[in-house]
Amino acid sequence: MTPFIMATSTLRLDSQPVALQGVTKLFGNTAAVDDVTFEAAAGMLTTLLGPSGCGKTTTLRMIGGFYEPDAGTIHIGTKFVNTVPPHARSTRTVFQSYALFPHMTVFENVAFGLRATRVPRGDITGRVREALDLVGLGGFAGRSSGQLSGGQQQRVAFARALVTRPEVLLLDEPLSNLDAKLRVHMRSEIRTLQQDLGITTIYVTHDQEEAMSLSDHVVVMHDGHIEQQGPPHDIYERPATRFVADFIGTSNFVEATVESADAYVVRVAALGTTLVLAPPAGATLRSGEGVLLVLRPEHLHLEDAGARDGVGFAGKIASVSYLGAVASYDVLLDGGAAITVASPAPVGAALRRVHDPVRVRLEVDRVFVVPTT
Ligand SMILES: Nc1ncnc2c1ncn2[C@@H]1O[C@H](COP(=O)(O)OP(=O)(O)OP(=O)(O)O)[C@@H](O)[C@H]1O
Ligand SMILES: [Mg+2]
Repeated sequence: MTPFIMATSTLRLDSQPVALQGVTKLFGNTAAVDDVTFEAAAGMLTTLLGPSGCGKTTTLRMIGGFYEPDAGTIHIGTKFVNTVPPHARSTRTVFQSYALFPHMTVFENVAFGLRATRVPRGDITGRVREALDLVGLGGFAGRSSGQLSGGQQQRVAFARALVTRPEVLLLDEPLSNLDAKLRVHMRSEIRTLQQDLGITTIYVTHDQEEAMSLSDHVVVMHDGHIEQQGPPHDIYERPATRFVADFIGTSNFVEATVESADAYVVRVAALGTTLVLAPPAGATLRSGEGVLLVLRPEHLHLEDAGARDGVGFAGKIASVSYLGAVASYDVLLDGGAAITVASPAPVGAALRRVHDPVRVRLEVDRVFVVPTT
């Protein structure tokens, strides 16, 4: 597969930050996007991540100028753009469908975006070739775009967006038409290209793995609002809400009751004992309040029954799924809670078996407290 050719590119795009402040979009009486505030920093890749219908595309369309917000402000750089039409903005959007003209050549598809602007005719050929080289399609200029694979069409769509030298690139699920393997390949190419060009990019996806692997900044959306935002590592390691913990990665949830809390530690009663944990950022907890503990399967460790190090709970294996690199165990704790543990699968040695007595050890500093709702 031809890689995007980045190293030879002389193209550097001016990048601008995009800032949304209190942005709301109503369809009828329903807020598809509800009081959304975030900044996509200049030259960085920001992902809007969330399940179907949470308002990602609507948000992107407001940034691209296809919808006007009902409330709030959108700035690109220092420019207030709420009412600026798409063609007068420095944004370009790559849609999920690519929207190529099948009867036109690859060259004409890419040139189309330029002809609509005021680029001198004499510059068009050079600009189109530069964009096609950039996406590894230098040899395809004369090919009809109806005769391209999905991955090639996707590259043409990128070239068509980049040829106009936008300050902000908007991508709406650009890989969803590709098979799983190509998707993984293309996403690393998009990331390399984005970083090489230093272009501010806002990327919409419902695929948490895609968001984690691509992004500088992840904005997690749910029902039109932002649940949490931050670098991928923070979102995964310190989920702020049950929704985020559930949507990103796999989590066990254990009910707990706050015994006492201050700015530094929270003591909770859970699983028949008291655990001393880090308090959630930004939330004040009261004694007696119910909370949930988030336990990632990979932060739990299966030990032989009777082991005593650290904090652990006795139980029995309820089921085993062998997944290759890891084995996933469901364990029924003696106190009645069911918990999933991921363990590196032993090479050549036996997996633990159903009914085996075991101990599940917690990494206490990786147990997170979130509100119950
Ligand atoms: N033109 C429209 N008119 C009325 N309702 C709309 C319109 N566009 C979107 N909606 C509604 O707004 C909500 C958000 O839609 P949006 O397309 O932004 O979601 P999304 O997060 O992009 O979802 P998906 O992952 O399925 O693409 C949905 O409930 C949708 O039905
Ligand atoms: Mg969408």
